[in-house]
Parts: sequence; structure tokens; C-alpha cells
Amino acid sequence: MRARIAVLASGGGSNLQAIIDHFITLGERRGGDVVLVASDRASAGALERARRHDIARAVISETPGDDAAPLDVLIADHEIDVIALAGYLRLIPAPVVDAFEGRIVNVHPSLLPAFGGPGMYGQRVHRAVIAAGVRVTGVTAHFVDDEYDRGRIIMQWPVPVFASDDAGTLAARVLRVEHLVYPRVVDAVAAGRTTLETCGEAIGPGIVDVRPSFTLLPHEDSRLAENIALALGC
Ligand code: GRF
Repeated sequence: MRARIAVLASGGGSNLQAIIDHFITLGERRGGDVVLVASDRASAGALERARRHDIARAVISETPGDDAAPLDVLIADHEIDVIALAGYLRLIPAPVVDAFEGRIVNVHPSLLPAFGGPGMYGQRVHRAVIAAGVRVTGVTAHFVDDEYDRGRIIMQWPVPVFASDDAGTLAARVLRVEHLVYPRVVDAVAAGRTTLETCGEAIGPGIVDVRPSFTLLPHEDSRLAENIALALGC
């Protein structure tokens, strides 16, 4: 039985799309099915993407008594096994975090723990990276706990920062890598290939499968997709 995945998204949902597309490419080899897309915003582009792919959609309740259902009810109703956050801006309630330990993942557009935490989302992350003058940023896929951007790291991939970058050009370079890394991580977690336990054993302190032999330089190397796939073993 394939894992039943809920994707939570507050925005446009390009990472959701990357997951859907990757699962279509994997076909019968995919580790799970996206059976629910839920958002805190009724206008989220991610919900429209779900509609186009005939995936169930829901708006998550903001306050008790509104028309929408709370997250725990949605998860139970749709018999969800794995939750993938994709640009979801709200904290996951503690009871859901507890019930889904090792089964909630997120993608963040920096090398955590740098440039993460409350308020660090969207272009704010990339503006902070440029303001700090760092030369390397990247993508982090991690398990989710009850604090923003803090759970155990599953995979990181570096992305260079160029002197000519503004937040927009940097965001685009990072997003391209997110779209390659995150669907593979979601698939690995859904299939049980990456768990909280194996995560710690692989390379040690919390980082799995970042193989320095697969260098990204030059970053726009046509082998980027291939290298990320190799590093993740899929
Ligand atoms: C991505 O940069 C992701 O890392 C962050 O929010 C953004 C969502 O973008 N958590 P999209 O909605 O998937 O296009």
C-alpha cells in the first residue's frame, strides 16, 4: 500500500507541482500518492493546481466555528500517512506533530539553521542571505517539529550566491534545486527509505546522503538534476 500524502501550502505551490510531476514520472515506483492539498488561504494557487490534477482540496480552519475543518480532522478524514509542507506558513499544531513524528517534512530555501525561523520565508530569506554577504546558500529538506525550521535535517544541497544576485535571481536559482530535491525526499519518506532513525545513522549529525563527490560547481551544470538524483539514490 502506498502512503497517503497531504501537501500543505500557503502560496503558489510550485513545489507541490514538482511533487505531482515527479510522482507521475515515477509511475508505479512512487512511494506515495498526494491525496489531499490543504491550505490556510482559500486563494492559494496550490489549491488550483490540486483541482487541475483532480486531488482533494481543503481550506484549513483558522478559528473554531468557521466553515473549514481543522487540520487534525482533515488528516483523519483523508487517512493521511505523511504530511509534506510546501510553502506552508503556519505552525503545525503540537498534537499533529506528536502523532506524525518522522512523517512530516518541509523544504526551506536556505542551509538551515542559517536564515530560518519565524518570519524567514519567501524573499525575506534571500534578502537576508544577500545582506549577510554569504557566498553559498542552498536548500534544506527536514522533518518538522513544533518550531519553525528546526526539525532534523534530511538533506541539504548547496547553491552559490553571485555578486550580481538580487533576491529574485537568487530565489529562482534556489527554487530550481528545491524542485529537484524535495519531490525525491517526499518520495523517500513516503516509501520509508528515509526515517527519523535512518536519518541519524547515515552520515551523522542529522544529514543524510549529501555526497560531496557530486559537486555542483559550476552550478548551472546540465548534470544538476542527475547529481541530485544520484545523491538521493533515486
Ligand atoms: C519555497 O521557497 C519553499 O522553500 C518555502 O516556500 C516557498 C514555496 O514556494 N518553504 P511554492 O509555493 O512551492 O512555489
